[in-house]
Amino acid sequence: MKLTMQLGKRSYDIILKRGCLANLHQFANLSHRKVFVLTDTGVPAQFAQTVLDQCQDGMIYTVPQGEGSKCLKTYGTVLQAMLEFGMTRRDVVVSVGGGVIGDLGGFCAASYMRGIDFINCPTTTLSQIDSSIGGKTGIDLGDTKNIVGAFWQPKVVLVDPDTLETLPRRHFVNGLAEAVKAGLIADPELFALFEKGNVREDIEQIIYRSLRVKKNIVEQDEREAGPRKALNFGHTIGHGIEAVKGVKGRRTNGLFHGECVALGMLPMIEDKALAKRTRAVLRSLGLPTRTGVDKKKVLAQMQHDKKSQGDSITIIKVPGLGCWRADSLPMRELPTLLGLDEE
Ligand SMILES: NC(=O)c1ccc[n+]([C@@H]2O[C@H](COP(=O)([O-])OP(=O)(O)OC[C@H]3O[C@@H](n4cnc5c(N)ncnc54)[C@H](O)[C@@H]3O)[C@@H](O)[C@H]2O)c1
Ligand SMILES: [Zn+2]
Repeated sequence: MKLTMQLGKRSYDIILKRGCLANLHQFANLSHRKVFVLTDTGVPAQFAQTVLDQCQDGMIYTVPQGEGSKCLKTYGTVLQAMLEFGMTRRDVVVSVGGGVIGDLGGFCAASYMRGIDFINCPTTTLSQIDSSIGGKTGIDLGDTKNIVGAFWQPKVVLVDPDTLETLPRRHFVNGLAEAVKAGLIADPELFALFEKGNVREDIEQIIYRSLRVKKNIVEQDEREAGPRKALNFGHTIGHGIEAVKGVKGRRTNGLFHGECVALGMLPMIEDKALAKRTRAVLRSLGLPTRTGVDKKKVLAQMQHDKKSQGDSITIIKVPGLGCWRADSLPMRELPTLLGLDEE
């Protein structure tokens, strides 16, 4: 299957096919140029090697796994390695890994010599379903996520669902939250696939439909001036929860991004019956439906969120399956939204 992100001169193909990683050379120019393959210690080494085997002049650079690698220090070491490899403007960075490697590699490509080619080969459900397309790249500053970055579209995205076979179950499930999100805001048939319940069997369809939802939205609004906000469904409260209970900051039993998004979506679904169906889907997947998190702390985090504009905050609501609406909520009403009034 193939999708094309239509962004004028910055358009690119998204290839979705089992085993396609071994055929990257068919979709991208890997000859007569240096290829810097970025991966992390948690990604099976074979995947980066499969890419390297298709290059005339390539190297693999491996950073430690985890969100901690999306930092200034690692960013600096990657750029240094690119410089020492002798990379020029004609050369290319290939990310082979999850959202961390995609965001880090993309930002290195965006900033090295003011921008060189970037190819993304996502290997987690989260990155295959969501983060590998759309052009957002970046790193964290301390505990502030994605605060430094660039919009930098890849030249091609290669989604090989075979790579998911080695992914630990919790990470596999984590990424599915973004697919449930896509179904809720824009694709009832995608949501139906989750209610059907054969996720492993239907994974290619789930990835395809999720990417199609995101592609359609990004094409309308590449830089998030309007409709792209829809993709933040579940993320406003989700980010608040993630800041308090996320894995960043070396919390041992922290929640993953998708798990926080799952929790953040539920209060934003206006139709009670749909909220119930969503809770059932999340439960069947093994995603959390109750936070067990200190709501006051979440509230405090949300009040500091970079996306809050003065005394109001934009939240995305789902009035019914397949549609969404952006609301501007006065900050003073946030406690009600979080259910803090009842305490
Ligand atoms: N750019 C965007 O639009 C966007 C959107 C959403 C999320 N993100 C970012 O994505 C990141 C999270 O991505 P993630 O959930 O993929 O996490 P991740 O990249 O940390 O990957 C999760 C873990 O799985 C390991 N792994 C990766 N592929 C594997 C495989 N095939 N088999 C076995 N292990 C494998 C990794 O080493 C890592 O330990 C966050 O930093 C988030 O901010 C970016
Ligand atoms: Zn997300």
